Amino acid sequence: MNNSLTAQPLIEVNNLKQYFDINVGVFRSRPLKAVDGVSFTINEGKTLGLVGESGCGKTTIGRSILHLYEPTEGTISYKGAVIKSDKDIGNFRQQATMVFQDPYSSLNPRMTVADIIGEPLDVHKLCSSKTERKERILDLMDKVGLNSEHAARYAHEFSGGQRQRIGIARALAVDPDFMVCDEPVSALDVSIQAQVINMFEELQDDLGLTYLFIAHDLLVVRHISDRIAVMYLGKIVEMSSANEIYEHPLHPYSRSLISAVPVPDPRVARAHERIVLKGEIPSPLNAPSGCCFRTRCPYAIECCAESVPEFEEIHEGHFVACHRVNEIN
Ligand SMILES: Nc1ncnc2c1ncn2[C@@H]1O[C@H](COP(=O)(O)OP(=O)(O)OP(=O)(O)O)[C@@H](O)[C@H]1O
Ligand code: SF4
Ligand SMILES: [Mg+2]
Repeated sequence: MNNSLTAQPLIEVNNLKQYFDINVGVFRSRPLKAVDGVSFTINEGKTLGLVGESGCGKTTIGRSILHLYEPTEGTISYKGAVIKSDKDIGNFRQQATMVFQDPYSSLNPRMTVADIIGEPLDVHKLCSSKTERKERILDLMDKVGLNSEHAARYAHEFSGGQRQRIGIARALAVDPDFMVCDEPVSALDVSIQAQVINMFEELQDDLGLTYLFIAHDLLVVRHISDRIAVMYLGKIVEMSSANEIYEHPLHPYSRSLISAVPVPDPRVARAHERIVLKGEIPSPLNAPSGCCFRTRCPYAIECCAESVPEFEEIHEGHFVACHRVNEIN
């Protein structure tokens, strides 16, 4: 039986908006629309990859889902129920955690590995005795491939890859269902990125975890994601299965991102024309009217400035926000 037909949404994000008030003069502020009307679901045990250029709102989505920010508008549901009250948020935080981009700054260098991993166990009062705490820490270290002898050492003694393993063990301490992985391999050497990604996949298989996996690099998310959402300036412009996005990207922005991914076979590379975008990504404080991508889009016409394109299902499970999607593909 097809798993995707039986899996239930674990996380549902509905029209999420996250605006930050920015001072633009004395007593004057303007909303910075970091996330502007984003909707998606992630099924249990699956991975949604979230990609896009720096500043497009990826981390803000992750933090908003975990309610580290109060959403400006929209809802987040967990197992079919909207997270509303402080009690809902407290319960959800025991099921949901985050792994951060930079293992150098996200771990306190003056704490031992055991205390870093043990901290969430203490905060959520998850162990009834010192022995249980110690056993749980050693078990978590084992899950991420850390040696028990490392428990008494300090985070600063470890390499980037090892530190990220410590960060992942800490995130696993609450026994979560859902993990926001915010560019967890971007700061690591290319040679160890694959090891850490493989570990995320093994943990998912063993523990049934559901991931929102954020990355700049499309190659990183292709391998681990079931579906991929492409973001631009606070909006999702395209979302589909990982294979479909790579084989048949439909939005001009996704097409430019895919065309920048290196192709190992030189014959395929020749047929694979690189699409270089003009200009810079605009500031979310001054987003263009209509389609947010129109200032860089080679296909932009008048109507693109006039109305915001709907995020429509073009084929089953393949969503695109572009007025001209049928003409240009
Ligand atoms: N707490 C905040 N207050 C004000 N502005 C913020 C805040 N957090 C993020 N922003 C702004 O919101 C926008 C989206 O930021 P965000 O960190 O979510 O992007 P990102 O896609 O994760 O970028 P990167 O790839 O560089 O990590 C940026 O313009 C950023 O400056
Ligand atoms: S709506 Fe217009 S500007 Fe936006 S991506 Fe489509 S063609 Fe380009
Ligand atoms: Mg980020």
